[in-house]
Amino acid sequence: MKPSCLQLAWLCVVVVALASCSPDESLTPPPLDIRPIPAHLPDVPVPADNPITKAKVELGRMLFYDARLSRDGSVACASCHRPDVGFSDAGRTVSAGVGGALGSRNSPAIINVAYQRHFFWDGRAASLEDQAMAAFLSPAEMSADTIAVAQLLRTIYPQYWRSAFGDTVVTMRRAMQAIATFERTLISAKSPYDRFITGDSTALTTSQRRGMMLFFSDRAMCGHCHSGPNFTDDQFHNVGLFNHYLDRGRWMVTRNLRDEAKFKTPSLRNVELTAPYMATGDSDDGPMQTLEDVVEHYSEGVRPFPTKDPRVKRLRLTEQEKADLVAFMKALTDPTVATNPAFQKPELP
Ligand code: HEC
Ligand code: HEC
Repeated sequence: MKPSCLQLAWLCVVVVALASCSPDESLTPPPLDIRPIPAHLPDVPVPADNPITKAKVELGRMLFYDARLSRDGSVACASCHRPDVGFSDAGRTVSAGVGGALGSRNSPAIINVAYQRHFFWDGRAASLEDQAMAAFLSPAEMSADTIAVAQLLRTIYPQYWRSAFGDTVVTMRRAMQAIATFERTLISAKSPYDRFITGDSTALTTSQRRGMMLFFSDRAMCGHCHSGPNFTDDQFHNVGLFNHYLDRGRWMVTRNLRDEAKFKTPSLRNVELTAPYMATGDSDDGPMQTLEDVVEHYSEGVRPFPTKDPRVKRLRLTEQEKADLVAFMKALTDPTVATNPAFQKPELP
């Protein structure tokens, strides 16, 4: 089966994304020798004041993995964003930060996160730099003591600092710029689905192909929100998980009742590895532990919450259709994320 229509539609998305990136002067593409972006993905947008350099990627990778940045030396970014599970915190509904402090949301997979414009489930950060600073300072995450961290960076990292920034002036902003730069290199595009849309018609099983057609169909409408190369429209929606939401989601940012309990559409790349699912890992029908649980929700569990998106409704899928959708989502797993040496924990100074 040739995916011609789909392939065309998808290419359009890439072309539009490319076209909308290039005229904006605040966005500069990363030098290709740093991390070749696969030809079928758009260039990664990069802020003008934080260009990607090899030295900054290396420094950022060390800081991402360095638990000494947290208040008690026990938690690094990588504690909750692990490369073996698509840079999420698999298995935990909510992650534990410093001193075992629990947050209230599920840790998202930060692969291909560079393409997003809103960060956190409610979109409260507008850049990866701001996002990293929030995680770094949050009492439920790293609870960093900035004076102690500045001292540590000055004594342990000076040579890396000079390579990355040209001098040894340590600021928290620069530390976050380095971490964000490393995050911009976390690109995944080697899943069976990527092979399929770039011409290998044998890359998907029959069930996965049926699942793909259903996923992008006007009946299931999954592809309306999980759209584009990263399976997200970067927008906020309510998918009817609860009759009453404790977490008010996007409302907490905009204070607009139309945004009540809306959450950012998560990317589905490597989703097989990032369970549990949804912003809080939970629903009125029980925990969202597996992709089967998620599909069951879209099939039978959707609640009529006032802000629920009309495109989400109980689909009443057959058992075969449910299995096909799950099989398709598993075709979005890129096994090289777990093994790519450039993503792993480096030796720390
Ligand atoms: C204790 C676990 C924990 C630690 C430590 C942690 N994170 Fe997170 N991260 C989370 C959770 C949970 C969320 C979602 C929170 C929310 O939406 O309110 C998140 C969200 C994010 C996002 C947004 C992803 C998206 O799709 O919107 C990025 C990027 C990210 N973290 C990077 C980092 C970086 C960089 C660090 C280190 C400075 C870090 N995280 C430390 C748990 C953690
Ligand atoms: C109206 C937009 C929309 C439609 C249509 C939609 N989704 Fe979603 N999807 C979302 C949002 C938003 C979330 C997060 C919801 C939350 O946490 O409250 C989500 C969450 C998910 C998750 C969890 C991912 C994770 O990392 O936690 C999966 C899997 C998923 N959707 C698959 C599907 C499938 C399959 C379909 C079609 C049957 C579909 N979605 C239809 C917007 C949508």
